[in-house]
Amino acid sequence: MGRAALAQGCRASSAEEVGSNVTSERRSIEELISTEHRRVDSVFAEALAVLQEGEEPRVVRDAFARLREQLETHLGLEDRLYYPALRALRPAHRGPLAAIAAAHDVFRARLMEIAARIEQGALDAVRDGLQSLCDTFVAHEAAEERLLRQIDLELQAEVRAPAR
Ligand SMILES: [Fe+2]
Ligand SMILES: [Fe+2]
Repeated sequence: MGRAALAQGCRASSAEEVGSNVTSERRSIEELISTEHRRVDSVFAEALAVLQEGEEPRVVRDAFARLREQLETHLGLEDRLYYPALRALRPAHRGPLAAIAAAHDVFRARLMEIAARIEQGALDAVRDGLQSLCDTFVAHEAAEERLLRQIDLELQAEVRAPAR
């Protein structure tokens, strides 16, 4: 199996990069979520690196378990904590936030599919599934961060010019 180049944003990490996402002071939901995104990106990169190196099934299973835990924790925080708060704060954005929640269910289903492929020992399918999931998730992160920046700007504008 050749080592296909991974798409930008979904590449295997080098050892130096892992753990280099130092968290800075957190001032907004946008920053909190962006920081979590970079953490999920790192764990995706680690899992992809393991698969690229053709590691034994136990190592693949462990790397995937770390990724799944990190990703499901992130999705759970968004679904149960961050986005309910934003829906209450900015009802005008309910539509995009509902679409985001629906995408989360798709990600959970795809994690279950990949877990099943790992149990079957179908590592090529695992590699393809994980790469595809990573690509889709990176696009999802970017869309979320755009929406969150927009909401942040709206909130800042309201603080500067309170409604009469
Ligand atoms: Fe999300
Ligand atoms: Fe997210």
